[in-house]
Amino acid sequence: MKCIEVKTDPPYQIWIGPALIGEIGKLIAPIVEDHSVVILSDMYVDPLYGDAVCTAIEDFGIEVKSIPFMVDESSKNLELVESLLRMLAQQSISRNDVILALGGGLIADVVTLTAALYLRGVKVIHVPTTLVAMLDAAIGGNADINIPEGKSMAGVCHDPSLVVADLDLLASLPDQEIKNGIGEIIKYAVIEKSDLYAKLKNHVGRTDMNDLEYIIGKCAEIKVGILAENPKSSQRGVLDLGLLVGQAIEIATDNAIDHGEALGLGMLVMAYGTGNSKTGDKIKVLLDKYGLMTTLDWPEREIVNAAMFKTSPTSRYTAVIPEDIGQCVVKRVTSRELMLIIRKGLSAIRPKKGSIKVGRRLHLLRRAKS
Ligand SMILES: NC(=O)c1ccc[n+]([C@@H]2O[C@H](COP(=O)([O-])OP(=O)(O)OC[C@H]3O[C@@H](n4cnc5c(N)ncnc54)[C@H](O)[C@@H]3O)[C@@H](O)[C@H]2O)c1
Repeated sequence: MKCIEVKTDPPYQIWIGPALIGEIGKLIAPIVEDHSVVILSDMYVDPLYGDAVCTAIEDFGIEVKSIPFMVDESSKNLELVESLLRMLAQQSISRNDVILALGGGLIADVVTLTAALYLRGVKVIHVPTTLVAMLDAAIGGNADINIPEGKSMAGVCHDPSLVVADLDLLASLPDQEIKNGIGEIIKYAVIEKSDLYAKLKNHVGRTDMNDLEYIIGKCAEIKVGILAENPKSSQRGVLDLGLLVGQAIEIATDNAIDHGEALGLGMLVMAYGTGNSKTGDKIKVLLDKYGLMTTLDWPEREIVNAAMFKTSPTSRYTAVIPEDIGQCVVKRVTSRELMLIIRKGLSAIRPKKGSIKVGRRLHLLRRAKS
């Protein structure tokens, strides 16, 4: 079991390890005091773990209410946040009550934003249930939602009061979601020097609990460390490695490509597009090893347009450039320079003619339509 102390104001702890749900009452009691807890959870996750979390909290004499709700990428928006705010008000949740987010990254984002807005901000505790949420989305307080004009274009920063990552909850996670998490771990291996890259070259999976505890902890430490060291500076932008192009790929393919895979492709585009081919090759080795996509057959224009949407012809954009493993630089570039980087990177990851992956686009289109 690992506990990371995050020195924000006020500070909070991130607990990582197996069998933590049983401990949750004890962990949250000092935060909740004599108030109550409302669990906002994923409709699919609630039947799996909702009762266990409720019971563990009630055993400590804390009153618990539960609100499971549906969320997917297309409903991660203000309308959903408003409906949650209204449900909290209808349940008479007070300013001193504590919201507990139980679910993956979608839940972490939507619930953090809701907690930040409700009565000008109530405490939020995260019990992440996906690898992505354990090592990234539930940590650091950043939360974004989508607006019709674009993905992740509205958000807040609202630090959690506690994060409890129980590794046992990963047992029910579909393989594709583990892959998404590995995409994020590779990002952390690339953005800061650590032993993550070497660890990933050996096999890492949900059954290697000791390794997983260490790796999630390492990613969390890197994230909170970068946020703490760069409260205002643009260097915190390294956390967005691969994200701009990754999100553009998600948008262009109508989410037919998952978050973690799109992120991996985004990192490759930024490496190859900026002439850092050796780094691109090293990232590719890891993506390949864990079965994540390394080529993309999709109209370049659609991805470039989606990526450039956030820029204007005169503005400068922050590009995160992976120069080497553990060495990323944040550089201001014009939107034209950014466009050229993306084009060059996309052309480097286009499947070679005759390659088996040329059929990928058709496959994705079918997936998108089904
Ligand atoms: N704010 C941040 O810093 C940050 C960082 C990374 C990702 N994100 C956001 O997180 C979202 C992706 O999150 P995600 O990858 O966790 O996916 P997710 O939250 O969409 O969950 C993926 C699927 O797994 C299911 N699920 C969750 N936990 C489960 C479990 N233990 N067992 C079985 N099924 C389970 C969910 O119901 C869902 O169907 C994106 O919207 C992304 O933008 C935010």
